[in-house]
Amino acid sequence: TNLSQTSMGHREGFGSTLGVIAATLGSAVGLGNIWKFPYVTGENGGAAFILIYLLFASLIGLPVMISEFIMGRRSNAASVGAFKRLAPGTPWFLTGISGVIVAFLIMSYYTSVAGWVYAYIFKAMSGGLLTTDPKVSEQAFTGFISGVWSPLIWQWIVLLVTGAIILAGVKKGIERITKMLLPVLFLLLIVCVIRAVTLPGASEGIAFLFKPDFSKITGATILAAMGLAFFKLSVGMGVMTTYGSYIGKSESLFSTGVKVMLADTCVSMLAGLAIFPAVFAFGFTPDKGASLLFMTIPMVFNSMPFGGFFLTIFFILASIAATGAMISLFNTPVAYLNEELGWSRKSATVVTGLMMALIGSTATLSNSILANFKLFGMTMFDLFGYATDNIMMPLTGLIIALFVGWRLSKYDVADELSNGGSLNNRTFVKFYLIAVRFVAPAAIIVVLLSGLGFFQF
Ligand code: PFF
Repeated sequence: TNLSQTSMGHREGFGSTLGVIAATLGSAVGLGNIWKFPYVTGENGGAAFILIYLLFASLIGLPVMISEFIMGRRSNAASVGAFKRLAPGTPWFLTGISGVIVAFLIMSYYTSVAGWVYAYIFKAMSGGLLTTDPKVSEQAFTGFISGVWSPLIWQWIVLLVTGAIILAGVKKGIERITKMLLPVLFLLLIVCVIRAVTLPGASEGIAFLFKPDFSKITGATILAAMGLAFFKLSVGMGVMTTYGSYIGKSESLFSTGVKVMLADTCVSMLAGLAIFPAVFAFGFTPDKGASLLFMTIPMVFNSMPFGGFFLTIFFILASIAATGAMISLFNTPVAYLNEELGWSRKSATVVTGLMMALIGSTATLSNSILANFKLFGMTMFDLFGYATDNIMMPLTGLIIALFVGWRLSKYDVADELSNGGSLNNRTFVKFYLIAVRFVAPAAIIVVLLSGLGFFQF
């Protein structure tokens, strides 16, 4: 072993190509596809928004994802360590630290929503959501989340499940579990899609997804699309840097990134196909915001034969998706504490989990006893979401793009992308370099400044 390896101990990585895809796709696919994507699409008018999202996902999200992979695999170190090794003695590593903080903040509200999703499996199973009355459905949801203990306990359960997988390790935990769960997720999703698109009156929902109406596009839509692209692809915080460091030297980083982006978009579209046709078929509207998943969906499913059964399946698949994403978020601070500060993986996991429970509880309690506790006019729940989506992720993503585009040498980048010259992908490398040096930074800066209110489209 060489020096760097002995000083860090043996470093675990993913064991196979399939494992790499499962883990990274498992990180990308999450509540973003099933909760955020449908309601943001619903609020922003459907297909036209999806096209803009695709543009951002491929021009910004994908290059930043590949950049994170490059950093992780080149340095063989997690998010913070990657900067330290690739640019020793410089302040670049602070970006890594900011990424760890972002992962932490996202986890704080994400586990809260995931807790609702876990809970809804059991509510759906017990028939507790069997209503087609909007008032009753709303009451069931707001009554649940405005409680104190029940949502908190569900959040802790979510953290325990995720923490246990992290504790089992990179190969035996992250890789094995995501490899098991992803096929189940696809299968359940397809079951729901078939049910939805065969409903009488489904065509309106299908048109909503696929027929663009560009008059609906505004500046706010464009902002929302970029925020969603970062969130969806899990980039702009070092989660993918850390996963990149587990990717074997013979995998193609470029094709991994492309596959993950395409498959993730596919899942979002399938989720849309499971949701919108049903929503329209039963005369509901898709623009209900964050409550689409928890208020509208139960009513929609209860309007169809075997609705309780399909609703249960739907929340099981949402829980699976959320769990894969949370594994990657939880793992990022753990890898930092373990590899940079020398903690054991076990204490890193326990301490991270406890901290997430503590800070996450302020998000969960935003719907009850902390409802009036506001910073910058937002509850903690909203603040964590706003600050990460609109400011921290784009900013960290920007610095990552600048770092790989301008600070690393073109030789290093090409070498890493072509696996030391053994892959014949020079044209791709050229495109990637243009995207990461110019297109992505320029687009991020414009959207960031307008998001902060400097100007309006
Ligand atoms: N990509 C996940 C989703 O769409 O639900 C969320 C997410 C996971 C965001 C991991 C960020 C991250 F680092």
